[in-house]
Amino acid sequence: MNVSVFGEKFTGSSGILQLMDDLGKAMTGRQGMRMLGGGNPAHIPEVQRLFLDRMRALTDDPAAFARLIGNYDTPQGEERFVGRLADLLRKEYGWPVGPENIALTLGSQSSFFVLFNALAGRFADGSRRQILLPLTPEYIGYADQGLDEDMFVSVRPEIELCGDRRFKYHVDFGRLPDAAGLGAVCVSRPTNPTGNVLTDDELLHLDDYARAANIPLIIDSAYGMPFPGIVFANASPFWNENVIACMSLSKLGLPGTRTGIVVARQEIIAMISAANAIISLAPGSFGAGLALHLLNGGDILKLSRDVIRPFYRLKSEMAQEQLLTELRGLPCRLHKAEGAIFLWLWCEGLPISCGELYERLKQRGVLVVPGHHFFPGLADEWPHRHECIRITYSQPEDMVRDGVRIIAEEVRKAYGFADDN
Ligand SMILES: Cc1ncc(COP(=O)(O)O)c(C=O)c1O
Repeated sequence: MNVSVFGEKFTGSSGILQLMDDLGKAMTGRQGMRMLGGGNPAHIPEVQRLFLDRMRALTDDPAAFARLIGNYDTPQGEERFVGRLADLLRKEYGWPVGPENIALTLGSQSSFFVLFNALAGRFADGSRRQILLPLTPEYIGYADQGLDEDMFVSVRPEIELCGDRRFKYHVDFGRLPDAAGLGAVCVSRPTNPTGNVLTDDELLHLDDYARAANIPLIIDSAYGMPFPGIVFANASPFWNENVIACMSLSKLGLPGTRTGIVVARQEIIAMISAANAIISLAPGSFGAGLALHLLNGGDILKLSRDVIRPFYRLKSEMAQEQLLTELRGLPCRLHKAEGAIFLWLWCEGLPISCGELYERLKQRGVLVVPGHHFFPGLADEWPHRHECIRITYSQPEDMVRDGVRIIAEEVRKAYGFADDN
């Protein structure tokens, strides 16, 4: 098949394709895999019940149901949802936003595709701009989104060694490049894959850096604030006219509805709406329809704070404790688990690469994601990136427990210690 340069993006190999393929197969149970790989949120019984009730209420109301499935929304997205969300953000956080500052998309993954390619790449005057990822490791799903080559530039973080076999990455502001060739700065907060939460100070500093360069700061809140609020550290939601906040209903429990949300200044929202119209006519209505009632009286925030966050916090603590116990005596550390649904394990001086470890684990029926995928835009060879794996703890307890046990066994073997189990 002859394909264009654009087509080549979709016929070559890509990390996110491998990940989603593995995830899809494991989630349908075809391979009997323990799925500690992808970013699928948990099926939290209370959340499932809530959406099931909402679905039943919708199907019991023929007019509402017909509206939900029978109409295209505007390219900006479901009007009532957009309006109520603007009210909520204004009331709860004092963000100076109205409906004109919000657009929906087909999942935040597609928001990033439009934003990255609109803000970086080749410009009409012949210049080129890149997206700065100021802290790697960073989300694997950004890596293949650029239609131009070399869309991303990133820098090594500082590593703070903490007690109790933990560590934490910090933005190394001294290493940030001259901003002249940049189109935007982008961070996920909490960070996928590490569970890091950039501090309020780091964010303010990045905001200054972006403003000084007259480029937007994109904050990917797929796991963060205001919802689903999977944040265990002290951190505040952050927005101003220079920030593009990307949110999603996926980790709230609705990944199947593909609903992304962009909160930004008006000209950016107009651009996202136009991209929606051109690429897909309109974003989907279903997620907004199912979640609409949660925007009343801030219920979506209560659900996040009282149900979703404690659910993941408990799972995170259990997985951390087991992993650190089973890895006792090895030079392994966990990133401080401050949010999201992952643990990030650093095996310092591991005699095999994390890619090889991934293969060995796959053979044993455990899917993780090898760390080297999470360094898009990092030019320098840094052994650290071959020493880490990402472990998802969102799946059922027995699956996570088995998976963690096998991971510890394989890591122990890789260091050359006999498997005493
Ligand atoms: C950090 C981050 N951003 C964005 C996304 C995309 O989410 P969605 O397209 O489902 O909204 C994900 C999905 O796992 C993610 O982990």
